[in-house]
Amino acid sequence: MRNFIASLPKAELHVHLEGTFEPEHIFAMALRNGIELGYESPEAIVAAYDFHDLPSFLTFYYKAMHALQTEQDFYELTYAYFEKAAADNIVYVEPFFDPQGHTSRGISFATVINGIHRAQQDAEQNLGVKSNLIMCFLRDMSAESAMEHLQLSLPYKDWIIGVGLDSDEKDNPPMKFKAVFDRARAEGYKLTMHCDVNQKDIVSHIWECLNDIDVERIDHGINSLEDDALCAEIAKRELGLTICPVSNQFVVQTYTTDEIRSMLRKGMKPTINSDDPAYFRAYLNDNFEALVEHGNFSQSEILQLVKNSFEVSWLEPTDKNGYL
Ligand code: ADE
Ligand code: ZN
Repeated sequence: MRNFIASLPKAELHVHLEGTFEPEHIFAMALRNGIELGYESPEAIVAAYDFHDLPSFLTFYYKAMHALQTEQDFYELTYAYFEKAAADNIVYVEPFFDPQGHTSRGISFATVINGIHRAQQDAEQNLGVKSNLIMCFLRDMSAESAMEHLQLSLPYKDWIIGVGLDSDEKDNPPMKFKAVFDRARAEGYKLTMHCDVNQKDIVSHIWECLNDIDVERIDHGINSLEDDALCAEIAKRELGLTICPVSNQFVVQTYTTDEIRSMLRKGMKPTINSDDPAYFRAYLNDNFEALVEHGNFSQSEILQLVKNSFEVSWLEPTDKNGYL
């Protein structure tokens, strides 16, 4: 099965570029930029990983971002991820980035996006990995800040395919960002939002994504299974759900294999993704292997999940057909 998974050309639709920041790179970049993170070695960084819920992960994730200072840093972060993706036989990616995590530290939007974009171009040319970027807003920051960043993105509109919403979901419902997402749609961006596993008010958040925001995809969305009408609506709209099994294991202590099977049975379109692979120590193939190891997934189930990723991707239909 390992070879089977490795041999399939795949797409990844839920990976945070800042979540691909490997401890060796955090350490080396902090050193070269004179940033004091308080770790003596890459091993000390890994030893400090203690993720058991979303907030405990996010605290560390934002701390490590301080090592990223220059356009070259963003280039190297992004290109290193694409090298990992190519090694996993990923041919298409829609990666997330979190501009507010950088502008809030005094790094300009241009520094961030120029570095990422140059790496995307080089990865397509040198590694054969095509990508379209998704800009995420941090939902624990204000709607005004999100709107300001939407404005900042407009000169780079051709480099960004869509917008998303991530970070701490507690008491930060989709509706808080309705005006921002309405404006993003009017500017031509596609829309997705995180509905993280087992968060407070999660089922109503997913309904808001459908009824008030009119998203074109849902990131995570595992808890939709608690509501039959919600599942039926997601299936009817053919909305993709970007599920992250190893990430889920850290938050809910299960790889959510039963839930993924239920979604397939209900005619929903789950896809498999890595989320923050450097922190959860699992890239895309590892996530598929976890389904085999912990859920005894068959080759045809794996194939269906891989096919779903291309189907619900934001590739042009003509480009999609080449992969399906
Ligand atoms: N930002 C980076 N990874 C995230 C996750 N898994 N959930 C919410 N926000 C995130
Ligand atoms: Zn995520």
